[in-house]
Amino acid sequence: MGRRTISLVITAALLLQPLAVRAAAPAPVGAEHGMVVSAHRLASEAGVEVLKKGGNAVDAAIAVAYALAVTYPEAGNIGGGGFMTVRWRDGREAFIDFREEAPGAATATLYQNAKGEVVPGLSTRGYLAVGVPGTVAGLELARQSFGSLPRGELMAPAIALARDGFILDQADADFLAEGAEDFAKDPPSAAVFLHDGRPWRKGERLVQTDLAHTLEAISDRGADGFYRGEAARRIVAASGAHGGILSLSDFEAYRALSRAPLDCDYRGYHIVSAPPPSSGGVVICETLGILSGYPLGQMGFASSSEAHVLTEALRRAYHDRNLELGDPAFVHPDVARLISPAYTAQLRAGIFMDHATPSASLGGVTPSHEGTSTTHFSIVDAQGDAVSLTYTLNDWFGARVMAPGTGVLLNDEMDDFSSKPGVPNQFGLVEGANNAIAPRKRPLSSMSPSLVTRDGQLVMVVGTPGGSRIPSAVIQVLINAIDYDMTLTEAVDAPRLHEQWLPDILYYEPFALSADTMAALAAKGHRLQQVGYDNQVAAILVGAPALGAKPVGSDRLYGALDPRLPTGSVDGY
Ligand code: GLY
Repeated sequence: MGRRTISLVITAALLLQPLAVRAAAPAPVGAEHGMVVSAHRLASEAGVEVLKKGGNAVDAAIAVAYALAVTYPEAGNIGGGGFMTVRWRDGREAFIDFREEAPGAATATLYQNAKGEVVPGLSTRGYLAVGVPGTVAGLELARQSFGSLPRGELMAPAIALARDGFILDQADADFLAEGAEDFAKDPPSAAVFLHDGRPWRKGERLVQTDLAHTLEAISDRGADGFYRGEAARRIVAASGAHGGILSLSDFEAYRALSRAPLDCDYRGYHIVSAPPPSSGGVVICETLGILSGYPLGQMGFASSSEAHVLTEALRRAYHDRNLELGDPAFVHPDVARLISPAYTAQLRAGIFMDHATPSASLGGVTPSHEGTSTTHFSIVDAQGDAVSLTYTLNDWFGARVMAPGTGVLLNDEMDDFSSKPGVPNQFGLVEGANNAIAPRKRPLSSMSPSLVTRDGQLVMVVGTPGGSRIPSAVIQVLINAIDYDMTLTEAVDAPRLHEQWLPDILYYEPFALSADTMAALAAKGHRLQQVGYDNQVAAILVGAPALGAKPVGSDRLYGALDPRLPTGSVDGY
């Protein structure tokens, strides 16, 4: 059954049920067996084909990730890095860290001039901005550890999409047009992502022959096909020729790492998320820990009291993030303490209902950039195994450079370090010394590929792009579903707030707050500012369209893709 048909069947079924009045969001898309929600329709299809063949969620994730590297070059990648959270039906969990690493020649002052000033742009554009990519190592570690199908089978769809090309739709063409000015400055990028020097148009076929060869080398030789192959040699040569510091030994030394995921409980639900070097799990668990002491359901969605306590909880969690977290190979924050009930109760006791806490009063460093060019996908297979995967080039199209002959766009993940502790990054986040640059260190991330269980059963897979706005978005989807009983689409579509300690501003999406709610918040001392959209939540609910609701017909999986970006699909069977 096609996507649209599935959706219509569910909508009709919901209309026949005596449900409470719902918000104006379409019903989640349902499927019986397996589901993929990703930022590109062709990647979702590639994943579902693997599931239909009997591949597990990890197999499908590998196919989706490589397909996105072809069809969604703004964020899908093999030149970047990310995190994968996995859960099996029997309750086992795993987390793979394939975050990029600083080159061995990197120094704490890499992006500062002789006067000690941070040079704008140096950590975001060009080869000096590039961290050692982790994606191929991460996908290989996942496949060797948990996959069931041969690498060649999982990579075949991506190789075909690169070699034969795919027809661009309007959203694909619009995204590529965003990078056109920078592609024109980098001949290898221009040769692929411009058509005779102009942006590609809807209906045209984008062929990526060099990328197809790089993918074939990986398919033939595994991680060595990238890290000890032609791709690494070409990237290192181009880096050296253009002011970068990447070396062959950086590529040879790179390893993806298995870590224990970070877990916490919230109102009877168990949240499984990303540990350091992501700050995502800590911010989510610390914030939910604080919020667990408030009756959010009674306060009401987007009421001034709910917005106030959410803001105050986020303020405290992002403060701790910026001060304490970093690569666990280099710094050792007491993460268990930060998310413990005793600590979050102590933080809650410092929140007053009648006034906002000035962020500066929390102390610490006077306040690093996290690009939003990230993408997330969620997968559940027919056995109930699940993968939540977020990976990134940092900014859209990363550092906007491609080594000749590779077809691989390279990340600007070095910008996620603090170029100078205490100086705000492009998102206005101010970080401490724990996230300072050091050789072979991984920059602090906000990526939060998450899963939710209840009574030992998987109930949700969720994650999003959005830089520093990732954890706050995941938190709001969770509380919308758990505290406000929203369907998955309502929970994903609902307007959001964001607060990140510094700058001391309560950000709100259009229509998130009414005028009198804003006045009430301003009277408490909150400084409010409207922001545009940075997230694209991709989520799956298991069992019903809303937590605690009844299934629709024989469907078991219900997917939702954030409408904030125009690409992607929920696909299932
Ligand atoms: N570069 C985006 C993140 O790591 O959160």
